[in-house]
Amino acid sequence: MTGRLAGKRIFVTGAAQGIGLAIAKAFLREEAALYLIDRDAALLEREAMLMSQAGGDVSWTAADITDAAAIAAAVAEAAKAIGPINALVNNAGVNVFNEPLETSDEDWSRCFDINLKGAWNCCKAVLPGMIGAGGGVILNIASTHAFTIIPHTFPYPLAKHALLGMTKSLGLEYAPKNIRVNALAPGYVSTQKVIDYWNGFADPDAARAETMKLHPGGRIASPEEIAMAAVFMISDECPFMNATCLTIDGGLSVQQHAV
Ligand SMILES: NC(=O)c1ccc[n+]([C@@H]2O[C@H](COP(=O)([O-])OP(=O)(O)OC[C@H]3O[C@@H](n4cnc5c(N)ncnc54)[C@H](O)[C@@H]3O)[C@@H](O)[C@H]2O)c1
Repeated sequence: MTGRLAGKRIFVTGAAQGIGLAIAKAFLREEAALYLIDRDAALLEREAMLMSQAGGDVSWTAADITDAAAIAAAVAEAAKAIGPINALVNNAGVNVFNEPLETSDEDWSRCFDINLKGAWNCCKAVLPGMIGAGGGVILNIASTHAFTIIPHTFPYPLAKHALLGMTKSLGLEYAPKNIRVNALAPGYVSTQKVIDYWNGFADPDAARAETMKLHPGGRIASPEEIAMAAVFMISDECPFMNATCLTIDGGLSVQQHAV
């Protein structure tokens, strides 16, 4: 199917690699116009150029989502480049994993600044335009960490729990303005972030095998499988889906441990 996102002008954060890049490519296949953001300028430029050369309606700028002024400026630039933004995907995020008492103040701030405040900076920048235009849609890329906890991953799950809270709060606040705000909760997805996580173990291959074994289907998701759900949630195919979260984890989080 094509054209499922025709007329959507979408601001996507963290679009230079991983899930964000897969989402951008899937959105272009469905005829969206995109404005892409990433703090990795070189990688963003390389990937966005490729999409543009392939005929995609894509503009981009390097920006850090923790910089509210830069994000406001990027949203204004986006309006000039592709027209007023009517959809936002808050995808940029980072792992900050510690044992709680070993978490530095710096790690605490970095985790919440990027994974929560960064998403809010983007919401704050696009919501006035959406309200003025009579509608819009926001998708926050949360995680199964938004409702479950893996020991020694502190404080990342706290920020993702809060991101889910923000999804519900904004979804309720702006439903009367015809704005839908939802979250998508991936489990493990094969991106650099997960490879880095496995590399943090003494035996990365064993850690990888252990992760696969946790999954009912014996494998983790590809970024493209997350992007498929993002297309649906941004499209007009689910007009009454609001203030909720869709889990895409192959069944991982509904398992109960048994001996
Ligand atoms: N990979 C997984 O298993 C997994 C699982 C659940 C949720 N998630 C979530 O999905 C999202 C994407 O994860 P991924 O695995 O694709 O990560 P990734 O590290 O592969 O890509 C993240 C991108 O975001 C960019 N970024 C990071 N901080 C930024 C900032 N402050 N400003 C602008 N750009 C920034 C990075 O430069 C990078 O290009 C994150 O929110 C993550 O928490 C990932």
